[in-house]
Amino acid sequence: MAGGQPSGRERESRSVNRAPEKLGAAGSGARALDASARPAPSNGASANGVSGNRLLEEPSAPAMVDGFGRRIEYLRISVTDKCNLRCVYCMPEEGLPWLRRDEILSYEEITEVVRVMAGMGLRRLRLTGGEPLVRKDLPRLVAMLAGVPGIDNIALSTNAVLLAPMARRLRDAGVSRVNISLDSLRPDRADAIARRPGTLDRVLHGLDAAEGAGFDPIKINVVLMRGENDDEIADFAELSRGRPLHVRFIEVMPTESNLELSASNFLSCDEALAAIAEVDALEPVPGPPGNGPAAYFSFPGARGTIGVITPMSHNFCSRCNRMRLTADGQLRPCLFGTIQTPLRDALRRGEDLRPLVEETLRIKPEKHLLVRGSSEGSGGLIALSQTGG
Ligand code: 5AD
Ligand code: SF4
Repeated sequence: MAGGQPSGRERESRSVNRAPEKLGAAGSGARALDASARPAPSNGASANGVSGNRLLEEPSAPAMVDGFGRRIEYLRISVTDKCNLRCVYCMPEEGLPWLRRDEILSYEEITEVVRVMAGMGLRRLRLTGGEPLVRKDLPRLVAMLAGVPGIDNIALSTNAVLLAPMARRLRDAGVSRVNISLDSLRPDRADAIARRPGTLDRVLHGLDAAEGAGFDPIKINVVLMRGENDDEIADFAELSRGRPLHVRFIEVMPTESNLELSASNFLSCDEALAAIAEVDALEPVPGPPGNGPAAYFSFPGARGTIGVITPMSHNFCSRCNRMRLTADGQLRPCLFGTIQTPLRDALRRGEDLRPLVEETLRIKPEKHLLVRGSSEGSGGLIALSQTGG
């Protein structure tokens, strides 16, 4: 499995065309609170030259390359920190101290950040939350983002509770892929995990609407929890046989609000795969197009696939291709840790965001430092919803 090493081989094949001196020249709104996570200087960032092929494919697009030679062309955008569910592994039952309206980036501000980053090589976006569909008129944002030159793919991560009536509009506005969170196929359990009644019905309705609207691919995210949904692993896997659905099992990651659960109920993807392999043969497959770190398998002749995302058991950070923008405009180079660059105030003052983005890219850590049963590696994060999951 992939270790956390920066890969020399990957670095050689990367194209970088930014002047090296620019990388260190930021006026720095970046707060590198976690200095130990800083990469050693002079990694891939000093490489130069764009291959002819890449220039032909993306004439307007220099690539963003971090200090470990990873090409970053994917941004996950949290459009709100709020959610209409309270999944046990994610949020405390009483919710979180929500951001104020004026702290949250407007659609115009989000689009401006994306416009700047697209000029630096950003290609793909994913809208997340909290739950992105609780933010008013999300299709308007999607249409604005779809109009940014250089952006060629927009995806959505949702719990699908509100998806059914909006699916078509989102698709028309420019969302092509959706990830839907669903942790149990049994109504009582799904409601208990989400801490909201009627969850399963609404999610399944949303899933049908997603298929009807033509999103492709549609991925289902299942967070593995021993004693909660481990007896449904095979049932989830079966969903991939007859429908073009990509079912992905995710190892639970520790945050402040789920320490007990993430320690005592942890279940590895290796165990999930072993349970599925007892049902039928599984063969490794390339998987659907997407941006993620999942490894994929399928049952013989299945229309969909089965994926595993192993942040805890097999680190995949060496293949990381993303940064995150929080609802209040912090650019985070990693989901975990404390490094983030506040873009919002600079944006509102009309300042150039490029140096801030470049600095954030430069200090993107090599890997997360999560340890089971501890919130330390998460950098004090209460819930993944705060940074866009
Ligand atoms: N560990 C693993 N996955 C999580 N998600 C939210 N919190 C956690 C956690 N602590 C998942 C959600 C959703 C995705 C955005 O992140 O289930 O599928
Ligand atoms: Fe909401 Fe997603 Fe967190 Fe569940 S996992 S509470 S749906 S943000």
